[in-house]
Amino acid sequence: MHNLPALNRTLALWRSHRDTIALVPTMGALHAGHISLVKLAGRRADRVVVSIFLNPTQFAPHEDFTNYPRILRRDISQLTAVKTDLVWSPSVETMYRSGFATRVVPEGPAMVGLEDAFRPHFFSGVATVVAKLFIQCRPDIAVFGEKDYQQLKVVTQLARDLDLNTRVVSAPTIRERDGLALSSRNAYLSTQERTAAPVLYRVLSDCARSIAAGGPINRVLEDGRAAIAGAGFALDYLEARHADTLAPISARREGPIRLLVAARLGKTRLIDNVAV
Ligand code: PAF
Repeated sequence: MHNLPALNRTLALWRSHRDTIALVPTMGALHAGHISLVKLAGRRADRVVVSIFLNPTQFAPHEDFTNYPRILRRDISQLTAVKTDLVWSPSVETMYRSGFATRVVPEGPAMVGLEDAFRPHFFSGVATVVAKLFIQCRPDIAVFGEKDYQQLKVVTQLARDLDLNTRVVSAPTIRERDGLALSSRNAYLSTQERTAAPVLYRVLSDCARSIAAGGPINRVLEDGRAAIAGAGFALDYLEARHADTLAPISARREGPIRLLVAARLGKTRLIDNVAV
């Protein structure tokens, strides 16, 4: 479905039956991680809306917007295997009408020196489009993956701060057998890069185990950073943060701790995170 009047008619019909609605926002290029979000949505609500919108405003000019996989037909056929009541796939013109001039600029978890330090445009693009999607669909719940952990915190805060009446529900990261977190961007990896990629999760898991066993956080992370660089990555960050606020943490008692990493393999930027 591509236009707002049709979306509004369908949602109004569902609401007249008192059906609860779950939204799963995506940018398409769906993989098993997305499908797990859709399945979770189907267990929590009567109706499932999956949005597929490749949002230009969350990409910087030098990033991969142009190359990002656009495979709407294949995405839609994947969704036939799971309960999806509606695929909302607006055009860029529908989302950002000519003259569009409003932006949501999140603070708090969006300004903690993680993704925001490396992709300064990213969270205002995400917050603006997610606010629009929530307002368009007015879902009871919206499902986001833990894979994008900082994004999960930002959209949770957004829903609360703007009284959007949508509860953000998180879903665990789905991984390949070798530990690599599923991501649409994994498709960019060369065979050689794909072989190196699971190092990220291995290092995260090793660091989490060491910290849980009482290892000093700073030293454990230093070793982790060296291991990631040694595997051929250009590291953006490997950090221990408070799992709720994302504030920096230097001792285990300040926890719960989440370890977060972002690193580039060739042209591909990968992110991941684990709980300690
Ligand atoms: O995580 C994503 O795919 C995107 O950032 C989102 C939440 C769909 C907003 O465009």
